[in-house]
Amino acid sequence: MVRGKFITLEGIDGAGKSTHLGWLVDYLSQRGLRVVATREPGGTPLGEKLRALLLAESMHVETEALLMFAARREHLDKIILPALEQGDWVISDRYSDASFAYQGGGRGLDREKLETLEAWVQGGLKPDLTLLFDVPTELAHARLALAGNEPDRFEREQQAFFDRVRRAYLDRALREPRRIIRIDGTRSLAEIRAELERVLEALWR
Ligand code: ADP
Ligand code: TYD
Repeated sequence: MVRGKFITLEGIDGAGKSTHLGWLVDYLSQRGLRVVATREPGGTPLGEKLRALLLAESMHVETEALLMFAARREHLDKIILPALEQGDWVISDRYSDASFAYQGGGRGLDREKLETLEAWVQGGLKPDLTLLFDVPTELAHARLALAGNEPDRFEREQQAFFDRVRRAYLDRALREPRRIIRIDGTRSLAEIRAELERVLEALWR
């Protein structure tokens, strides 16, 4: 059995991840692949309960990081690893890069602590490909305001917070340029999809 590929979508809130997730699932399914779409925090019944707490309750930054990784442990065990092992592809709306960007960059938690949690929870497992949807914070904010949904605890943060999160994501992309591909999310959906098709081609080889 050939192991499936693991793709994660990242970016600040409003960057376009959820919009592209559905298209990616359709695109890969049309190529005959079995695709599992999931999200973090969440993806399992327990993980979704942790998500509800994380998006609503104020808490210490270390509690926040520990709960993100607790939900991830469950997600790996129940969804991600079984799917990959049976040859399915997994696309997750966010994964560990979000912890480094939000809890690390946004909230200032030490990178070493996050690396310890990452090693504990994931061992060596990293995504095969991470698509980083990158937009200026003002544009992301304007798009979310236009969509008109009630903002959650993270979305209510100030622009300076999202500037730090964005910078942390871009720093990670510079450190791991083969895995993390920056996608300019300011363009039209059609232009972005054309680029996604080109990027995905590299995974068939
Ligand atoms: P995320 O999941 O990253 O928070 P969404 O996919 O929910 O972001 O997108 C936020 C809003 O921006 C949605 O209303 C979506 O329709 C809109 N949007 C996403 N990408 C684009 C784009 N390239 N051009 C115009 N609007 C977009
Ligand atoms: P998301 O599903 O992108 O929110 P939405 O459904 O509104 O698009 O993610 C929920 C929030 O959780 C998002 O603001 C980022 C945050 N988050 C972290 O802070 N750390 C993490 O490790 C993860 C996975 C998410």
